[in-house]
Amino acid sequence: MIIRAAIRSDLGAILRLLRDLNASASASGATVRMSSAAVRAWTRIENDPDRAVLVAESRGQIIGTLDLLVVANLTHDAQSWALIDNVVVDAATRRRGVGRALMDDAVERAARAGCYKVEFLPHEYDDGASAFCRSVGFHDSAEGFHRYL
Ligand SMILES: CC(C)(COP(=O)(O)OP(=O)(O)OC[C@H]1O[C@@H](n2cnc3c(N)ncnc32)[C@H](O)[C@@H]1OP(=O)(O)O)[C@@H](O)C(=O)NCCC(=O)NCCS
Repeated sequence: MIIRAAIRSDLGAILRLLRDLNASASASGATVRMSSAAVRAWTRIENDPDRAVLVAESRGQIIGTLDLLVVANLTHDAQSWALIDNVVVDAATRRRGVGRALMDDAVERAARAGCYKVEFLPHEYDDGASAFCRSVGFHDSAEGFHRYL
């Protein structure tokens, strides 16, 4: 398995994986499909130097993905911080270290980009996902509020 930055031809596979996050997507009325809006969003993402969608690839198949955003910052000596979102692993390949490999790669990229912290705030998760967050080194230190628009 390799972890790499996604390219445009991965988009269909990424969108298929993201359907597993549909609980939160449907809560906000959103859908995950290859629409012209998704293609436009991809174009913005691939032209943004502070953004990386990572994929885990095994034998030519995309089996996991996450989204990493580096945010410029004015506090902490102007060190950036990073946000991880949209973490999902193909249901058939879970509990084999794919999620951990994606998170480790993202955290390493954030460190290389000079970030002082990485935030990962899944909106809805079950006990397994929360065990995963802790297992890959994140602490549940934040209580947050969301407002869907
Ligand atoms: C959460 C998710 C990304 C984990 O991916 P994964 O590839 O299965 O995770 P890993 O195999 O790398 O697991 C790393 C560690 O996290 C913990 N973990 C992962 N899934 C777990 C589960 N269902 N129950 C308990 N612990 C779990 C374990 O400690 C595991 O190490 P171990 O297998 O050696 O015990 C995956 O289950 C998923 O895609 N879920 C649906 C989407 C989702 O909930 N995303 C939000 C993530 S918080």
